[in-house]
Amino acid sequence: MIAPTIRGVGMYVPERVMTNADLERLVDTSDEWIASRTGIRARRIAADDETSSSMGVRAARCAIENAGLTPDDIDLVIVGTATPDYPFPATACLVQDALGIRGGAFDVEAGCTSFMYAMSAASSFVTSGMHSNVLVVGSEVLSRILDWTDRSTCVLFGDGAGAVVVSAGEHASFAPQFILGSDGSGGPSLCVPAGGSARPASDQTVADRMHFVKMAGPEVFRFATRVVEESTGQVLEKAGLTPGDIDLFIPHQANVRIIDHAVKRLHIPPDRVFLNIDRYGNTSSASIPIALFEAQQQGRLRPGDTIVTVGFGAGLTWGAGAIQWMANIASETESDVITDSELVSATGI
Ligand code: UT7
Repeated sequence: MIAPTIRGVGMYVPERVMTNADLERLVDTSDEWIASRTGIRARRIAADDETSSSMGVRAARCAIENAGLTPDDIDLVIVGTATPDYPFPATACLVQDALGIRGGAFDVEAGCTSFMYAMSAASSFVTSGMHSNVLVVGSEVLSRILDWTDRSTCVLFGDGAGAVVVSAGEHASFAPQFILGSDGSGGPSLCVPAGGSARPASDQTVADRMHFVKMAGPEVFRFATRVVEESTGQVLEKAGLTPGDIDLFIPHQANVRIIDHAVKRLHIPPDRVFLNIDRYGNTSSASIPIALFEAQQQGRLRPGDTIVTVGFGAGLTWGAGAIQWMANIASETESDVITDSELVSATGI
């Protein structure tokens, strides 16, 4: 069967590493609390001159090369981001221009689920024949919208970008399936309250710190544990698969306890679960493509493997995908990944 697949994958993370020890100097927290409650030990922080589009471009270049293509082959750009460079133009247009791509470009905003929404759209465009090679980017500079005095949020997130190229692949044994969901009634539990048309920027909104991420952590935690389990089960059923068919499970990296809960309930063997939250924290729409790239680099993805991805976040939204890994490209693609041995402790923000 010919079906949409991931032809290439790439990532970029900023050089600067912020460890839990660095955060201990900023807010009343501890490495012990952050690591035991979330699984996070470090995250990357963008340099002053880096933006979602500039990081997205670097991840996209890596993915296009990984796919064995050039920007001329790409005919649509979709960027998932909750931290666009500007309210408009869309970050996707900036990525399209920087790469010299000829084709349409638009952003998707579904919180940390943006990448899953963008992937399902890309897959549909390829299935319909409307586009051949769709570049899907997830890129975030969350450090710019975090309240660095709020220990309940600032320890959780990090900056980074990931990208994939979605194209038609041959010899698929099943067509990719997606489940998308939204419950807007939960919007206030994870939001940036000001800066949009409902509450435009004013001296008051700035003074009240309303341009930063606000989250009711335990509420979102309960929502996340429920939807990860439910939507993974639903997408497996839609694809005619069972948990035993999963070669690699790639969940959004928000909290290792959310992942553990779902994995146990779904009976997915721990060695089939990809985790890198310890090094990057929650990079929102970038977390799944970053994980895909690292899984490929570590040789954990072989042609024909069944991968299941699941995202959840602001909206509230969720989305799961069951995709056959068909990328046929060598795994030695150069990326801007910094190895652990190169970790340098960050200095104050
Ligand atoms: O990707 C988007 C989706 N986002 C998520 O999935 C996040 C979901 N939520 C979570 O992951 C968890 O709720 C958190 C990690 C955010 C919080 O963990 P928790 O176990 O739910 O903690 P909590 O909010 O119930 O707080 C427990 C305690 C509180 O102290 P008291 O009231 O018990 O004295 C907090 O004030 O931990 C305190 N606390 C901290 N202590 C040290 C909260 N943040 C910190 C901190 N360091 N950074």
